[in-house]
Amino acid sequence: MTTPDLGPGGADLHLELPAEGARRTALAQALRSAVRSGRLAGGTLLPPYRTLAADLGLARNAVADAYAELVAEGWFTARQGSGTRVAEGVATTDAPSATAGPVPDRPRHDLLQGKPDPASFPRDAWAASARRALSEAPTEAFGPGDPQGRPELRRALAGYLSRARGVRCGPENIVICSGFANGLRLLASVRPPDWAVEAYGLPFHHGILETAGVHPYPVPVDEDGARTKELPARVPTLLLTPAHQFPTGGRLLPARRAAAVEWARGTGAVIVEDDYDGEFRYDRKPVGALQGLAPEHVVYAGSLSKSLSPALRLGWLVLPDRLRDQVLAAKGLRESWASTLDQLALADFIDCGAYDRHVRRMRLRYRNRRDQLVSVLAAHAPEVRVTGISAGLHAVLALAPGRESPALAAAHAAGLALDGLSTYRHPADPTPPREGLVVGYAAPPDSAFTRALEALAGVVGR
Ligand SMILES: Cc1ncc(COP(=O)(O)O)c(C=O)c1O
Repeated sequence: MTTPDLGPGGADLHLELPAEGARRTALAQALRSAVRSGRLAGGTLLPPYRTLAADLGLARNAVADAYAELVAEGWFTARQGSGTRVAEGVATTDAPSATAGPVPDRPRHDLLQGKPDPASFPRDAWAASARRALSEAPTEAFGPGDPQGRPELRRALAGYLSRARGVRCGPENIVICSGFANGLRLLASVRPPDWAVEAYGLPFHHGILETAGVHPYPVPVDEDGARTKELPARVPTLLLTPAHQFPTGGRLLPARRAAAVEWARGTGAVIVEDDYDGEFRYDRKPVGALQGLAPEHVVYAGSLSKSLSPALRLGWLVLPDRLRDQVLAAKGLRESWASTLDQLALADFIDCGAYDRHVRRMRLRYRNRRDQLVSVLAAHAPEVRVTGISAGLHAVLALAPGRESPALAAAHAAGLALDGLSTYRHPADPTPPREGLVVGYAAPPDSAFTRALEALAGVVGR
């Protein structure tokens, strides 16, 4: 096969990536298959990071990481000043990686963060709620939806959130949205364009903000959450994950919670509290919502995506009055995203106690999973520090500088799908990068979990 001369912009690549989730891993996988299948010939100049990142809507460092990973595995070569190219002699062969052995096409074990256990979805209880909701719904519920959300659901949520998360609200403060992503888009559309964000976060969310024209100011993060002393003086909105910093895993210290609230009061800023997995706290009593300290300055955001399933695409914002009115104006005259019938089913699911039962059952299950992860690593890779494990569905295995890329390459060669911590670092983070592996432990089936952990221990214990 001849290599076309593609000029300094490099090859124009057609790569299909999922819209959400671990897109950097998906990019590395897509590039690998493109080389393996011969679609990308040996010697082909790859596009610069910036170009491919813009084409795919990814952060630049996500593309840089994917390239580095393929260089480490021998699929690409990189030379200072002449860009990254497909290595000669690997296309159309199933040549094993130079460093890490054969790379399977599909990972055998999915340890990507962000997924609750799909097999534990409470099908029967949800079906019962959906059936009841359908048969009891008033006729008007089958017309266009109210953009604020069904009153039945807002009432049920107001009770649940104040009881279980310490949120101070009534049904009138709640706006239903289609998951947190939709809520964030709405908030970005009504807030001024300067936002502070944690220096580690979901690139997908940073992308949503950037698409909305937001200028993000990354706030450094350590094991106790966002470093509130470094909050910028004059930024009107701060996106925060106080209960369980995403993805590094720290809980925002009480003194920092107080400082964040003081900062918001003093500057008139609004904190958007992303309480994405607040129900799943294992070691201490659940950490209550920051919103409970300052309802006038905090927008509480919740979602079913970790507690029940991301397939439902349901989330909620709890808003101070003035912001609620702005968000409702942005939503328009009728609900365009969140299914009214699913809202009614969820209202029933909460009211009949099924949601609390499910959360309690899953908390136990995920805590057992976390304990298994910790004990397998303690037995086979005792030098590895497992962090961020007091809550949630993922842990971070802290790695020394320079270890993340080789560990990722080895993990992928061992059939493990997972991400490096650097994937989540905001490109403008002013602090030195932290390295690690982000390990989701909720989704693998029981039958495969032990083997997945052993493979992981084999990779990090080297
Ligand atoms: C940090 C973080 N926030 C929020 C969410 C919820 O997002 P959504 O409700 O859009 O699925 C997730 C994913 O579950 C997440 O990882």
